Amino acid sequence: MSVDILKISKDAVAASKIYDDVINASIGMFYDEDKTIGGMPIVTKAIRQFVDEYILPYPSVDGGPDFKANVISWVLGKHESKIREKMFVNACATPGGSGAIASTFALFSKPNDYVFVSDVRWQYERFADRAKLRIFEHKLFKDDHFDLDSFKTKLDELCNIQKQVIVVINDPCHNPTGYTLDLDEWQTIINILNSKKDNDIVFLYDVAYLDFSHEKDTRQKMTYLPQLEKHILTIISFSGSKTFGVYGMRLGAAIMISTNEALVKQAAPRFINEARGSWSATPTPSIELLNHFSKTEHKDAFKVGLLHITTLVQERSALFLKQAKEAGLKMYPFKSGFYTVILTKDPDKDYLKLAEHHIYAVPMNGGIRLALCSLSLKEINGLSAKIKRILNL
Ligand SMILES: Cc1ncc(COP(=O)(O)O)c(C=O)c1O
Repeated sequence: MSVDILKISKDAVAASKIYDDVINASIGMFYDEDKTIGGMPIVTKAIRQFVDEYILPYPSVDGGPDFKANVISWVLGKHESKIREKMFVNACATPGGSGAIASTFALFSKPNDYVFVSDVRWQYERFADRAKLRIFEHKLFKDDHFDLDSFKTKLDELCNIQKQVIVVINDPCHNPTGYTLDLDEWQTIINILNSKKDNDIVFLYDVAYLDFSHEKDTRQKMTYLPQLEKHILTIISFSGSKTFGVYGMRLGAAIMISTNEALVKQAAPRFINEARGSWSATPTPSIELLNHFSKTEHKDAFKVGLLHITTLVQERSALFLKQAKEAGLKMYPFKSGFYTVILTKDPDKDYLKLAEHHIYAVPMNGGIRLALCSLSLKEINGLSAKIKRILNL
């Protein structure tokens, strides 16, 4: 995918200054029903009340001990202590999940290596380009499920070519499809990674939408990580930009976790060095924002706001999916999340056709991605029929 999502979004914003029927479904930012961004007044309020000490000084490059402890607890949730019994953990603050992905690609590869990703995916090739890596794909879906056969066969193939392999899994609420792995699929993926004992596996677990999943326990999949064997270093890429709806603030972390202590020990200073030699340090207010909402009383209030968002996003997808089905549109399997994809024959042309009709969406492998998170229910109502008509599907 060579399009620039931020550019499409900017085009949509420019068009909305001229036309009053613009639908900007291009970008993964949550907008409330009244079109206010982020949807969480409690977050904005906390930022506005920060004292200078929380804004101005240089932070520790890795975020500092409080941040590291807090972000690990945030991501592992109530399972943290059990996981820590079997695994070694460290963390480094990053400017968004993007920083965690970029640094993982840079640190655990050499130029011309392949990185293992699904055929339908978010823009990992941008990070791969920067690290001078090539893409090695497995099929994402077989019918309505994760294609475990393709994942295994293709990983076998790559592991025969290359000793150190970065394996990317984006779950839950996969971008762009909205798919979430079920626990059996997750277990099989873990088993497959374990079976690659002759390789050094760097498992990049991109959980950008962790807090927007509709799984009963959004952290249950973390409890499977202790099964991962000693040849595997997992890097959990956390996106605070998404969790807190602070897209421009750049908040994230690379959480290094393994049953092999040496791998985590070696990785931690390398992440710091990579940060220092590229973005330098994650913004201080971002680090303090996570620290603030890690305090129990603030976290509880945050969860109320988060529930409002996840419920609304799910209502939006339910409405869109119902009407898309009635209109006869074909989609990738969807469970929950910010996006969904309508399957079309020529995504690169189709998204331009939609833009001519003031509908801004993003071409993906196999279809057009709509960011339902940024559309109100009113905007979604009737949208699928309109798209069907415009694209003649
Ligand atoms: C799948 C996925 N991973 C990671 C990111 C990075 O998020 P950020 O860098 O904004 O925290 C995004 C953002 O859209 C994403 O969709």
